[in-house]
Amino acid sequence: MSQWEPDSWQFKQALQQPNYEDQQQLKTVCDKLSSRPPLVTSWEIERLKSQLAMASQGLAFLLQGGDCNESFAACTADPIEKKLKVLLQMSLVLVYGMQKPVIRVGRIAGQYAKPRSKEMETCDHVTLPSYRGDCVNRIPFTAGDREPRSENMLKAYDCSAQTLNYLRALTEGGFADINHPENWELDFVTQSARSQEYHQMVSGIGNSLRFIDTIGGVTRADLSRVDFYTSHEALLLPYEQAMTRRALGSDQWYNLGTHYPWIGDRTRNLDGAHVEYFRGIKNPIGMKVGPSASVEQLVSLLNHLNPNREPGRMTLICRFGASKIRHCLPPLIEAVKKSQHPVLWAVDPMHGNTITTDDGTKTRHFDQILDEVRESFAVHAKHETIIGGIHLELTGNNVTECIGGAGGLSPADLDRAYESNVDPRLNYEQAMEIAFLIAGQLQVDAS
Ligand code: PEP
Ligand code: CO
Repeated sequence: MSQWEPDSWQFKQALQQPNYEDQQQLKTVCDKLSSRPPLVTSWEIERLKSQLAMASQGLAFLLQGGDCNESFAACTADPIEKKLKVLLQMSLVLVYGMQKPVIRVGRIAGQYAKPRSKEMETCDHVTLPSYRGDCVNRIPFTAGDREPRSENMLKAYDCSAQTLNYLRALTEGGFADINHPENWELDFVTQSARSQEYHQMVSGIGNSLRFIDTIGGVTRADLSRVDFYTSHEALLLPYEQAMTRRALGSDQWYNLGTHYPWIGDRTRNLDGAHVEYFRGIKNPIGMKVGPSASVEQLVSLLNHLNPNREPGRMTLICRFGASKIRHCLPPLIEAVKKSQHPVLWAVDPMHGNTITTDDGTKTRHFDQILDEVRESFAVHAKHETIIGGIHLELTGNNVTECIGGAGGLSPADLDRAYESNVDPRLNYEQAMEIAFLIAGQLQVDAS
């Protein structure tokens, strides 16, 4: 196999990349980006990798969630706080229900580039490039907005840095303190059924903490911070290359723009540029696995991306859809078992369940999302493998993007608060319902 370099992907076919008109400008931007400080460190990345290795053995659980597509406009305090609040509340439910550590990972601080099914979009006889995320171009349907501009990568770096800086402040300081879960309250949900269930649980935890305090066990200060990691789809390869650095004091290459990049379902071809790029970085990596993945392909990808079978390196994020998982997942599980690759199996119950309503709105049925989660636990239980994580598109805003759930949203409700510009996300209640389902599910499995 030829020598890997941060730019060796350039000799392979790179799918889902924009066509930049001004190549000189692209080079100037990439040079600037390469000289910006890293956003994360190799020590954090290695700590995450060892936690993911624990999850692959059933000793921890991965909770990964956030927007389908972050936007520069939403790089403000409120959406960041709300997403973190939902993830912290969900993780508390999971820790409490499963009695094991939860690894919290946001689709955040870098999720600015999107793969699209169509290169071009046509509207009223005008054809323009599709919107590919704020890192590439802009949403309004004008030639100027849809032109890919490499300068957007600098803005993506800036927004990622600002988001991550605020997340670090919130998770290190008093905000994430388990002794003060009132910090994580969202103002609009106090009456919901899930919220009441959650508050009962929190008051139970509060009592246990006071009890521990009284008898002098752990110091409560230990519980005042949480680990929180970032992830995004490493799609736009010039950006990812510029964030690829040798770690301090080592000769290993890491993507230091995020802790945990993933390869999308559309770009995981063995001979392609994305797989070439991922091969050489030391980060733990996620790989989306959809219905088109064959047994042979999957095992070849694992051999290629994790030849040393390093634990924690590979997460398989399965996204088949509720109607296909029962058929698609078992042969892959058996092949991976046979190959003896140590993988973390996770489920993304979102991307195989996207539908379009009669009026053209993208949505997902909450029942199908739940079905895929349940089915995933059932299949792994049957094959005696471990499902160690969940990958969700969610927001802390009170949106109406997915149909169903405790709030009983119908297609007619979608208009009311539909904010996503790419895929529909779970709102607070729907996200919490999934957390309660998994927390309960695993208890049943363990008994
Ligand atoms: C996504 O996670 O937003 C996405 C595009 O996923 P997939 O690659 O699984 O389609
Ligand atoms: Co999506």
